[in-house]
Amino acid sequence: MALDIPFNDLSRGLAGIRGDIDGAIDRVISSGWFVLGPEHDALEHEIARYVGTSYAVNVGNGTDALELALSALGVTAGSVVFTVANAGAYASTAALLLGAEPVFVDVDPSSHLMSGASLEAAFAACEQLPAAVVVTHLYGALAPMPELMQVARKHGVPVLEDCAQSLGARWGDTMGGSFGDIATTSFYPTKNLGALGDGGAVFTDSSELATRVRQMRQYGWESKYSIEHAHGRNSRLDEIQAAILRTKLPFLDEKNDRRRQIHQQYEDAVPPGLRMVNTSNSAFTAHLAVVECSEPDSARRALKARGISTDVHYPIPDHQQKIPGFNPRQMPLAVTENLATRIFTLPLFPELTEDEVLYVCESLRTL
Ligand SMILES: Cc1ncc(COP(=O)(O)O)c(C=O)c1O
Repeated sequence: MALDIPFNDLSRGLAGIRGDIDGAIDRVISSGWFVLGPEHDALEHEIARYVGTSYAVNVGNGTDALELALSALGVTAGSVVFTVANAGAYASTAALLLGAEPVFVDVDPSSHLMSGASLEAAFAACEQLPAAVVVTHLYGALAPMPELMQVARKHGVPVLEDCAQSLGARWGDTMGGSFGDIATTSFYPTKNLGALGDGGAVFTDSSELATRVRQMRQYGWESKYSIEHAHGRNSRLDEIQAAILRTKLPFLDEKNDRRRQIHQQYEDAVPPGLRMVNTSNSAFTAHLAVVECSEPDSARRALKARGISTDVHYPIPDHQQKIPGFNPRQMPLAVTENLATRIFTLPLFPELTEDEVLYVCESLRTL
């Protein structure tokens, strides 16, 4: 019997914790404190402890987190920011908002992530030293941080880790987000730790960087009504979202385990000719189940015919986006360009039923 499998269904994720969520919202409403209050501060402490950094600074969304973190690192108009071109253009958007120039680093053909070798090649190919390197832990898989840090340190350039897809991924006891100089995440509802609206956070061990972000997120205030910092704006996480995130954070590891379990079943089912880009292990949160193959469009059509929704992350590399006024610097991006034509994404969310997962597996075997 054919099943209808959605790409995602956020309502299912709430069903089991609806009472706790309602309680959290009610707690905030009764408190009469709606912005930068106790829930917000408690979340900053709890999530910093989870990631293993000294500080977390909540902000309005993941793109603001990237922009403010880059600004705190000293990125400004005319700076170059190294980033990958296969990760949805979020880091590029943040760099462009600062008047900086995103310059693209190619990715490893197996992991689809920035590697020490590809970063070193970018340093060799670009005449201008970047002010920062953004490493995206794409699809939820940790990029090789020790080698990336080594290359960046050699050139004296700070590193930002984008953990929007990878919150909870770790090597041993070391959590992604605690390797670089600063890190960011998004609490967009589809993320592994998602709010019921927008949200984001910045992580760092540096009190100086944390203070800069904290000031910029609230108008650039040094103290109330006294503006002493550039790039100030309003980018705050509200109390209701903070309370909801505090309710969900204790379940993140369990949810990530379930995601990895489903991903493992897909790994076991894909036929020769198709390859799951990642493998299930603790350094991968299974945020997205990305398949690589020579004919992704025909695979997607066949799955659609069986009622299975799929997507592509991401169809247009950043340097091929038609952003007015942005003429990307020529960089070697052969791997990135090739991979963009070879990928599609299977449905993967923790609340998929076992029957649904088995149906996706059975359908994969027919490809
Ligand atoms: C890797 C990555 N970085 C940044 C963002 C931006 O986050 P937001 O949508 O909260 O601005 C997203 C997703 O939306 C993302 O997947």
